[in-house]
Parts: sequence; structure tokens; C-alpha cells
Amino acid sequence: MRRSKRLPLEQLTPYLVEPPFPEPLSWPHVFGNDHPVEIEVGFGKGLFLVNSALQQPEVNYFGIEILRKYQLFTATRLAIRQLTNVRLAKADGRQFMKSHVPPRSLRAIHVYFPDPWWKKRHHKRRLFTAEFVAACADALQVGGEFHLATDVADYFAVMTALCSAQPRLAPKPTSVGGDASPVSFLTNFERKAQLRGIPVHRACYTKVASVLPPTGCTDPTEVPPASAI
Ligand SMILES: C[S@@+](CC[C@H](N)C(=O)[O-])C[C@H]1O[C@@H](n2cnc3c(N)ncnc32)[C@H](O)[C@@H]1O
Repeated sequence: MRRSKRLPLEQLTPYLVEPPFPEPLSWPHVFGNDHPVEIEVGFGKGLFLVNSALQQPEVNYFGIEILRKYQLFTATRLAIRQLTNVRLAKADGRQFMKSHVPPRSLRAIHVYFPDPWWKKRHHKRRLFTAEFVAACADALQVGGEFHLATDVADYFAVMTALCSAQPRLAPKPTSVGGDASPVSFLTNFERKAQLRGIPVHRACYTKVASVLPPTGCTDPTEVPPASAI
């Protein structure tokens, strides 16, 4: 069996953002520049981050992954390629998006093949909740994109229902339910699904300025309280 070699921790340090995480983070501080930032939650073995960072060196990619072994595995892939536009945090994406990502700071969020937690009693462990989707809507700039994919039809229905119920997200035309990928596969799990002939469901939502601001409100991206409408 092929064993993946991990580089020594000293060589991975430039890629790792370690706790305690500031509330909120400063992207220029994290990346040393003010390029646009995209986040992937649950990056696993990091294929999407590595390929995206190679293809778009002018974009900063920030990965959040709950398992340390995948953080270090992906950091090794980045270090081997000497990529400078990716940082990785080991954290629970639900908490991290809510507490540490500056509002209206992201050009895009990517969530590919989130764990479905099949058993009903385990559904509370799922990444997608109304609170997580609201945190993602907070974190996106107006016009920013929320990309989702999964091969689990039931979970896809839950994910898209939650996004559709979030007033600051609008589906991009023809994006919901389509199975066309911009490349042959984006992630390790997508590759596995394709090899098994399992259909992949994908969707993309855009952050919208939901309502016109009332007099005195200077930020048109925020939803005023119901009493103000
Ligand atoms: C099914 S894998 C998909 C990995 C990758 N996105 C892909 O498509 O190949 C789900 C990944 O999400 C991570 N994960 C699960 N819950 C998470 C959470 N709450 N926050 C961050 N990552 C999480 C898992 O450790 C795992 O690496």
C-alpha cells in the first residue's frame, strides 16, 4: 500500500493558521496582501485548493477542515508545489464561519461533499444548518458566490432548501440541480463519485443586497430588523 509522506512540521508552518483565532481574522494579516479571498469548508485531501491555487495565483484560498491529519496532508501538497496563496485552519467550519470570518469579506465559499451523517440521530453533526448558511451569507460580499456539491440527493435537498430560505442568497440561474462540472472533477470525492457512476448534484447561490436600507442605515448589504421595514 502506498504511504503518503508528510513533510516535517517546520516546512508546513507557513500554511497553518493555528488557534487561538482572532475574532475576526484580518485577511491582509493572514495572507500579507489584499487579494480576494475564497474559503473551502471541509477540504479533505485538498485537491480543490491545490488546483485552484495553481490556476488562480492572484486569489487567496483559505481552507477550514475539522481533521488535523487532512490539514497536514494538504499542507504537504501545498509545500511541495511551493504555493503561497493558501492557508489552512483546523477547526469546526460551523463555529469558524460564525466567529472568525470578517463580515462581507469573501468572494466565494465552497462546500463540496459535506459528510451526510446518514443516521437520523447523527443529523445534528451535519455542517449545513440554517445558522451555518446565515454565517456564510454574512461572510460573503454582495455578488459573492456560494458553491455546493454532493452526491447525496437527500442532503442536497436539505442544503438547497436552507439556502433558498436565506433571504440574502439567490440561486444563480440554471445552477441548482445541474450536474455539469466546470472541469472533469473538482475534488477527491467527486472523482470517486464519477468512477462509481454516481450523479453529482451542484448548486451556486449569489449574495444579494436583500432590501433597500431604511433612512439612516449606511450598509445596504444588511437586512434591517423587521420593525424597520
Ligand atoms: C466527505 S469529505 C469531502 C472532502 C472534500 N471536500 C472532497 O470533496 O473530496 C468531508 C470533509 O469535511 C470534513 N468536515 C466534516 N465536518 C466538518 C466541519 N464541521 N468543519 C470542517 N470540516 C468538516 C471532514 O473531515 C472531511 O474531510
